[in-house]
Amino acid sequence: MAILDKHKILETNATLLLIFSFLVVTIGGIVEIAPLFYLENTIEDVEGVRPYSPLEMAGREIYIREGCYVCHSQMIRPMRDEVERYGHFSLAAESQYDHPFLWGSKRTGPDLARVGGRYSNEWHVDHFTNPQSVVPESIMPKYGYLLDRVIEPEHIEDLMRTNALVGVPYTDEMFENARADFMAQADPDSDWDGVVARYPKAVVANFDGQPGVTEMDALIAYMQMLGTLVDFSTFTPDASR
Ligand code: HEC
Repeated sequence: MAILDKHKILETNATLLLIFSFLVVTIGGIVEIAPLFYLENTIEDVEGVRPYSPLEMAGREIYIREGCYVCHSQMIRPMRDEVERYGHFSLAAESQYDHPFLWGSKRTGPDLARVGGRYSNEWHVDHFTNPQSVVPESIMPKYGYLLDRVIEPEHIEDLMRTNALVGVPYTDEMFENARADFMAQADPDSDWDGVVARYPKAVVANFDGQPGVTEMDALIAYMQMLGTLVDFSTFTPDASR
């Protein structure tokens, strides 16, 4: 019997076809899933990627609360038009410590994965206060009230500990200094060496120019670090994975 005739038996017998289809899908599934249990890590570690500083973490929470991800993605795809507009495509490692990740699924506004360092802090304050004042055709809502909301670091250590529970490598030293680091990053006159030692490349500034740490400070601290951690002039992808 030719092989095709044998296949005819399967094709004309619904029960047999179901059983064999199930077998094929099972084998395929095992082949895909089983190796994942033997890999220690499916994400290539990339130099420079670190957990969020306390102030950046607070800014990220505001970003989530305000629903910024509804209009903005944080995921540069490896296609030419995207790379030319936004910079190097996003690496898995760059959202390694994101719980939840904020890749987004819609771009009413531009991708923000590498917005860090693109604009000055003052630009961000103006833009958040009144987007149309810097980009006349903008349809982005105003977020000026963030300037009036002073925030305290009372919950920041808990938030970091929660992230540590799901695998973010915060150290005891980071927990101990969480509140102080939170305040210091927004105050360039403070003793902020520790912040930058614990969180390399963290931007230290009085982001909104006002006294006290506001939600605006936290959000801009977060904006200014997005996509800046990996040095792409020295980065070479690990081809073995
Ligand atoms: C209704 C959709 C919408 C929402 C919600 C929104 N944005 Fe935007 N955003 C836009 C649009 C459109 C632009 C492009 C025009 C402009 O620059 O204002 C933009 C631009 C930006 C830019 C400048 C990006 C660049 O590369 O030029 C930043 C930064 C930004 N938004 C941050 C935020 C943050 C943070 C939030 C949440 C607090 C937010 N946006 C909420 C629509 C939105």
